[in-house]
Amino acid sequence: MRFDVIIIGAGAAGMMCAARASQRGRRVLLIDHADKIGERIRISGGGRCNFTNRDVGPEHYLSQNPHFTRSALKQFSARDFLALVERHRIPYHEREHGQLFCDDSAQDIIVMLQRECAQGDVQWATGCMVERIERRETDGMHFEVATTEGTFRCHSLVIASGGLAAPKIGASPFGYKVAEQFGLPVVAPKPALVPLALAPETLARLQPLSGASFEAQTRCPGMKPRFREDVLLTHRGLSGPAILQVSSYWQLQEYGAEKKQPIALDLLPDLNVPAWLESHRHGNVLLANLLADHLPRRFAQAWCMLLNLDKPLAQFSKRDMQTAIESLQSWSLMPSGTLGYAKAEVTLGGVDSRALSSKTMEATPVPGLYFIGEVVDVTGWLGGYNFQWAWSSGWVAGQAV
Ligand code: FDA
Repeated sequence: MRFDVIIIGAGAAGMMCAARASQRGRRVLLIDHADKIGERIRISGGGRCNFTNRDVGPEHYLSQNPHFTRSALKQFSARDFLALVERHRIPYHEREHGQLFCDDSAQDIIVMLQRECAQGDVQWATGCMVERIERRETDGMHFEVATTEGTFRCHSLVIASGGLAAPKIGASPFGYKVAEQFGLPVVAPKPALVPLALAPETLARLQPLSGASFEAQTRCPGMKPRFREDVLLTHRGLSGPAILQVSSYWQLQEYGAEKKQPIALDLLPDLNVPAWLESHRHGNVLLANLLADHLPRRFAQAWCMLLNLDKPLAQFSKRDMQTAIESLQSWSLMPSGTLGYAKAEVTLGGVDSRALSSKTMEATPVPGLYFIGEVVDVTGWLGGYNFQWAWSSGWVAGQAV
């Protein structure tokens, strides 16, 4: 059977692309190997889908090609997606950092995308495995897609099969394999927005702090972004939004030639720590008691014990003072790794965006072949940015195919 467009992967990006292309009058087939579509949307945002963010720009994405997202985000912006949500009368609300969530259920977003696809009469093939893809020059350039449901032909082939995060719900390296088949470079995929593991000796040292949760500002030394959110110390390592955010940058270091650096936590980002400590130096007050005004008391006490700072400030040596200042402003922790794709929200790396048109997502060396969504080397911050990339890249490809 012949189609104008075949899209492989009926997730966020694939459905958006199918809706746009079909509403432009293209005959579209949307293939997914899963029986149930949109699973990643369904489980996202704790079941309420953080579908976009009020403030979205290229600075919220990691890629080997930092400006790649600019055109797609401009062509189909967060405001455009919000307008769609409002047109479908989906109730939503805003949380901190401009994050937009459904009031009721992520299912509302799935139903909205299905309705948009139905409007364009998209054909569906779910539970369908792709066995082979060929690009043929005979009879006009076209792609031949052999699947368990038969062989289909199309002029434009869009790969929207996502990354490797959350393998339990259908993640696969399919998209990277297609890129390799057509000679396109792939930036080595790695888990991102992921809890960080600590080595057993560090975990043993931090054991008294296990279970503690506190607000801090995290960063990777030498990199600009800083994330002020909650940190959670667990029995395996570090978690919480401030850690998930910085984990992507910590992973990014692996692409460089230099050794990985530890992450740094600023425990008192609002204070001029040297001046604050100095002003209490002459009293008989314990550092832990002072810290308890800003951090959970149990954490403050255990942290001071850990750093041998569990004494009144008046008894601090010069060296104690230096340790306190440095450790409060930049508590340095070296992760031993991540908790892997099973606990990751997204994949860092992917099909190298330097081989794609930023305006259309078409592979420059392979006309007619497109890559959209998470399979591309574009990774957003936590906060609705990854879905916005799926919507924007899906929409621009849907406009171009
Ligand atoms: P997506 O993964 O959505 O879809 C890919 C589709 O391709 C799937 O339907 C899959 O079955 C199919 N597929 C894979 N291999 C195939 C093959 N070989 N053949 C056929 N089909 C194949 N982001 C955000 O912005 N806000 C949020 O709240 C969250 N929350 C969140 C929670 C959790 C637990 C996770 C794991 C992830 C998030 N994310 C998120 C990230 C977000 O889910 C993700 O970035 C987008 O779903 C990516 O959209 P894609 O369409 O690219 O891939």
